[in-house]
Amino acid sequence: MSQTLVTGIKPTGTPHLGNFAGAIQPTRELAAQSELRSFLLIADGHALNSIREPEKLRRYTYEVAATYVAMGLATERSVLLRQSDVPEVYQLANLLACYCSKGMANRAHAYKAAVARNQDQDLDRDAGINMGLFTYPLLMSADILAFDTDVVPVGLDQKQHVELTVALAQRVNQAAGPVLRVPAIRIDEATQTIPGLDGRKMSKSYGNTIPLFCSRDQLQKLVFRVQTDSRAKGEPGDPSRCTLYRIARAFANEQELRSLRHDYETGAGYGHIKEQVFEQIDAVIHEPRKRFEQLLEDREALDGILERGAQIARDSVRPVMARVRAATGLL
Ligand code: ADP
Ligand code: TRP
Repeated sequence: MSQTLVTGIKPTGTPHLGNFAGAIQPTRELAAQSELRSFLLIADGHALNSIREPEKLRRYTYEVAATYVAMGLATERSVLLRQSDVPEVYQLANLLACYCSKGMANRAHAYKAAVARNQDQDLDRDAGINMGLFTYPLLMSADILAFDTDVVPVGLDQKQHVELTVALAQRVNQAAGPVLRVPAIRIDEATQTIPGLDGRKMSKSYGNTIPLFCSRDQLQKLVFRVQTDSRAKGEPGDPSRCTLYRIARAFANEQELRSLRHDYETGAGYGHIKEQVFEQIDAVIHEPRKRFEQLLEDREALDGILERGAQIARDSVRPVMARVRAATGLL
């Protein structure tokens, strides 16, 4: 029996190197290795929690679509889809809500972080927090469970969400019999958290990203802006603690990494190291960047891919939904 992979990216900004390392590259590897069927989600429903400008949301949605396609992920066996094109997912999220204790949702880290920010500023704990954010993990769980998913490749920041998905599937199965397939998370050890310009996790929400498909010049500028320690040229450095090296691990091949480690050990200056890392990233994205730009110019091609994706996705989730409804007594 072929296995199913589901992964997703929120269209809340231009896809960045962290998305490549945490989600796109591992998905590509898995998809190439075996007879996997992949569903690649553009989580526009999740993005709506924070984006209030329709044109922006649409543009980012197309950018995420173009990114998947440009990186070679839209193949025969993979289905690219907009979350909002599959209403069954919302229906399943609603059903899962009935099995999710409020305490479980209180502990989800996106919500906890928002509460902590409010408390730091002496605001009401729930100030500015909408229900979309509070129920975020339910919609993500539904994305995963609706497709009878076996494997979910994501970055480390999504671990808790997938654990919650597993817990919810088990709860439903306990109450209603074995109706939901329990997924496994896949986190790539080397690239589980790619740091951003300031050394924190690279994230659209921190504004510290390097866009995957910025121009070559812009990429060079941004790589040179990555913060490093104050090690002087000639002094040996420790690559494992360096943001640049951690970024490079997602792009460079073994031989390039060995040469980079040698540069650190022999005290090469950061100017030289940054130049190497920049070229390594550019080598990987040079061709896809051109495809990405072409795709965004002709949105019709993307519309066609998304329409096909919506159709296949809805056909795939229908039997799962019928199973869950029957087992829980909804029909
Ligand atoms: P962001 O945090 O920028 O909003 P998303 O939430 O859309 O990014 O993440 C989409 C995918 O990319 C998820 O699998 C997530 O784990 C992965 N990802 C995001 N940022 C990073 C990062 N800095 N390092 C590794 N993976 C990441
Ligand atoms: N929540 C994920 C993130 O912020 C994106 C996402 C939505 C996702 N649905 C998913 C990831 C399903 C994996 C599977 O990064």
